[in-house]
Amino acid sequence: MTADQGGGPLLRVEDLVVEIPRDGMVSTPVDGVSFEVGSRESVGVVGESGCGKSLTALALLRLHPRGAAHIRRGRALFRGEDLLAMDIDRLRKWRGRRISMVFQEPMTSLNPVFQCGDQIAEGMQVHLGLSRQQARDRAISLLEEVGMDHPARRAGQYPHELSGGMRQRVMIAMAIACSPDLLLADEPTTALDVTVQARILDLLERLQEERAMSLLHITHDLALVSQRSNRILVMYSGRIVESAKTAQLVAEAAHPYTLGLFACRPRLGDRRRRLSLIEGSVPDPAHRPQGCAFHPRCPFATARCGQERPEMQSLGAGHAVACFEAERVREAGRWPDA
Ligand SMILES: Nc1ncnc2c1ncn2[C@@H]1O[C@H](COP(=O)(O)OP(=O)(O)O)[C@@H](O)[C@H]1O
Ligand SMILES: [Mg+2]
Repeated sequence: MTADQGGGPLLRVEDLVVEIPRDGMVSTPVDGVSFEVGSRESVGVVGESGCGKSLTALALLRLHPRGAAHIRRGRALFRGEDLLAMDIDRLRKWRGRRISMVFQEPMTSLNPVFQCGDQIAEGMQVHLGLSRQQARDRAISLLEEVGMDHPARRAGQYPHELSGGMRQRVMIAMAIACSPDLLLADEPTTALDVTVQARILDLLERLQEERAMSLLHITHDLALVSQRSNRILVMYSGRIVESAKTAQLVAEAAHPYTLGLFACRPRLGDRRRRLSLIEGSVPDPAHRPQGCAFHPRCPFATARCGQERPEMQSLGAGHAVACFEAERVREAGRWPDA
């Protein structure tokens, strides 16, 4: 807590807008996103594919695809310092050291030609000034900490010699090696089968608590974070549309999209996979409908929803929603049957 600036949140994102120029037009896949992550807090970010979750996380570390996208405006105050405005060399030193990221596909982040142990060790040599041997020893204990069997042997293996779940553990070991304050995990288990997924999520949860980290867990799976996060941000078409403590969101969701994400039915033949009941798809950010971006898919929509865009409004006790029909939605309590 001591290093917190005035006891404020660890991360405070204000009105983040990411633009992508395309065909002479400008689209805004991240369209005014604001949220906070507290010290030691675990926050879930949920939304279907194409809602702008990854771009939001990447932009915070200025790792968004250069050339394609740029940050139009906004601030991302980390311990009071703006990540979006600071000197890029300074930010490079913070990446991996104070804020780390874990991605869906470890093979895009792991280097195929280096042994896993050396890849974990590298950050500690650079950021913490450890010797090669010290860093290598630490890498082995990190592999043990993330639950790898035979950690010393694993350290000498190459990524292709490991299973998907083991690679993700290596990625997590790399991410926590320098004891960051914040871990951004973008669909960290989406590529894994369900049992491995649960083990990796248990691991992230344990590390977050033991290491007193904050965790921003991005996923398309609301059921998954509703069992594990302290607070949830629901994202739709480039904006946060509902934000609440997890128990609150489960008990009294006030955005139709949130109800839709909760209302999934088991997929035939695979009880653990769920099928969305929300018809249609997330709009292309270059062709967003007028009014509320969700209104064409929304069973609660009125004429106003097609004309005006609802802003986030507080419902009290840390619960906020961007919906004109929030009261009706909260009372209905569930996605209407088709
Ligand atoms: N490299 C890119 N080039 C062009 N458009 C992109 C690129 N990355 C993302 N986008 C646009 O931004 C939207 C949001 O993408 P993304 O942040 O990856 O969504 P999510 O992670 O929620 O699935 C996409 O639907 C797409 O329109
Ligand atoms: Mg994504």
